[in-house]
Amino acid sequence: MKISVQPGAALGATVEDFDHATASDADIETLKQTVYTKKIAVLKGQDLSPRQFLGLGRRLGRPETYYEPMYHHPEIREIFVSSNVPENGRQVGVPKTGKFWHADYQFMPDPFGITLIHPQVVPQRDRGTYFIDMGRAYAKLPEVLRKEVAGTHCRHSVRKYFKIRPHDVYRPLSEIIEEVERKTPPVRQPTTFTHPLTGETVLYISEGFTVGIEDADGEPLDDGLLHRLFEATGQLDDTFEHDNIHLQSFEQGDLLIWDNRSLIHRARHTTTPEPTVSYRVTVHDERKLHDGIRVP
Ligand SMILES: [Fe+2]
Repeated sequence: MKISVQPGAALGATVEDFDHATASDADIETLKQTVYTKKIAVLKGQDLSPRQFLGLGRRLGRPETYYEPMYHHPEIREIFVSSNVPENGRQVGVPKTGKFWHADYQFMPDPFGITLIHPQVVPQRDRGTYFIDMGRAYAKLPEVLRKEVAGTHCRHSVRKYFKIRPHDVYRPLSEIIEEVERKTPPVRQPTTFTHPLTGETVLYISEGFTVGIEDADGEPLDDGLLHRLFEATGQLDDTFEHDNIHLQSFEQGDLLIWDNRSLIHRARHTTTPEPTVSYRVTVHDERKLHDGIRVP
């Protein structure tokens, strides 16, 4: 296993000669430390079958199966499929996922620490995923904003980006909204937490999922504060030129592993639809998202 830092980028490391089936426990630990400290590890030359991909995920932690079955891989339900390429005339997985800033499962009570993506069909143009390191972004916030968020909490919900399922056709919108609020009620988290594996402070907010901010007593604060935080961290920059935004490219055979605690990400905007398929496995490592989470 050979690890090298991506030249010229604040984030990311390239990992060559890695085979999850033969990697030692020490190799796996080194790989995880690379994910926590460099935030993104790009494993080269993988080309794994769905079962092998899940096997790799299992070396890093306990897989989390996505709560909505329409995203599942037909054979391996732990794999989340993002695809706009029908297989034998049938839609597999869901097209156009994640085109908004978010951390995976941020709207759930027990989000996982690690996300793995194995691109299957790679677009020719508009390739890559945007990332913002919300640890670095927090450190760069103006002092006055850091003071303003101290002791506050945020609410996160899937409601803005919940995708209508095939069986929702002909259902009243109010009924679907009621179901979303009942099954995935907004989750309250501290606005910042300490990353349990690096000790850094993470600003845990995203434009896609964060729907409210409140003070230490649970009193809602003006949405203007959230807006200023989104703005300062680069999430409102539609040119993607903000200093905090990192575009991570990939090619066929790559497998990306990233730190879902400190990174938020956003699928790249494509002006013309190109065939794109990627598989995702998500895993809980040995710690909760942060030490304040008390769910089983
Ligand atoms: Fe995502």
